[in-house]
Amino acid sequence: MMSFGQRYRVTLFGTSHGPEVGVVLEGLPSGLAVSTEAIQTDLDRRRPVGRRLATKRQEDDRLVVDSGLTDGRTDGHALRAHVANEDVQRGPYDRLRDTPRPGHADFPARHRYGAEADLSGGGIFSGRMTVGLVIAGSVAKQLLGRRGVDVLAYTRAIGPVEGDIDETLPLPELRRRSERTEVGCPDPRAAARMEAAIQEARRDGDSLGGVVEARADGLPVGLGEPFFDSIESEIAHLAFSIPAVKGVEFGAGFRAARMRGSEHNDPFRWNGDRVETVTNHAGGILGGLATGMPLVVRVAVKPTSSIPRPQRTVNLARHTEEEVVVTGRHDPCIVPRAVVVVEAVTATSLLDLGLRGGFLP
Ligand SMILES: Cc1cc2nc3c(=O)[nH]c(=O)nc-3n(C[C@H](O)[C@H](O)[C@H](O)COP(=O)(O)O)c2cc1C
Repeated sequence: MMSFGQRYRVTLFGTSHGPEVGVVLEGLPSGLAVSTEAIQTDLDRRRPVGRRLATKRQEDDRLVVDSGLTDGRTDGHALRAHVANEDVQRGPYDRLRDTPRPGHADFPARHRYGAEADLSGGGIFSGRMTVGLVIAGSVAKQLLGRRGVDVLAYTRAIGPVEGDIDETLPLPELRRRSERTEVGCPDPRAAARMEAAIQEARRDGDSLGGVVEARADGLPVGLGEPFFDSIESEIAHLAFSIPAVKGVEFGAGFRAARMRGSEHNDPFRWNGDRVETVTNHAGGILGGLATGMPLVVRVAVKPTSSIPRPQRTVNLARHTEEEVVVTGRHDPCIVPRAVVVVEAVTATSLLDLGLRGGFLP
């Protein structure tokens, strides 16, 4: 399925090495001002150009809005937007047609769709498809922002290096700190060690994964749908759609399994006329609904599959086992690029739930 969402419907189109990638957004209320500059800024956070540690693939990623905006406002039509794929090198992928790359979708996709499957650049399994997610999320953040909801993601860990992140800091401050580092981590000391770890992996012809954390502040209490469409279910559904995502946890997450109830339960207290909790192990969610405390979600990103060293694979045509060397341009760590994507899917899920529950627009 290339679509997600009930009220805010997001449909991705394009492939990695086709003419374009983009998104169709349905369900946006008419007459809302949408900043295309803000969307472009988010696209720039995703693309590798200008990132010292990232791939050499040169993409301009200029946003083109095809429909749905008139004089900068939503006009009731579906908002269609895309960016062109300009820097396409099919050669390295065509050579790999019969030898599935370890860690990539090649093998099961070829079984499912046959030898005709366009897997050049990863086809629809490519990280490039996340361009549409970023556009959807950027629009969602603008709408949520008008209701006082702020969404931010940042790098929490890369390989073995964990950031020491002060969770009491307001989001604008965390945003400023993250923007100052190449890897998008608000802890500058950890960020320097993360950069070094990525460089070391690159020198070894290897790659690293990491953890992206997203936070949403200012959520109205009660936002979310019970049971199947809980906040966790919706965000996890979208987060697991991001290529290379292998784990999702909320609040204390897997740590909760090792805690006692007396430790894990977040006690309530009054803050003026507002109810808040003393701790936030729940990550801002109880029963699938927002508590009004910061929503905290962490996403585990696996190490980049494409590594320059020889790897074992099979030849599907010759029925032999051989070595494959994956050429082309690849990031030794995609975590810094995944940050804005995780932010986007968090915002997209929250906007859909907000519209469904009547909290927005
Ligand atoms: C923004 C982004 C960029 C990516 N870039 C690369 C890349 O350059 N090289 C690579 O091997 N994988 C990259 N990936 C991950 C692969 O697309 C993904 O691991 C692969 O398609 C297999 O899917 P799976 O890991 O979800 O099972 C990227 C993912 C994202 C989100």
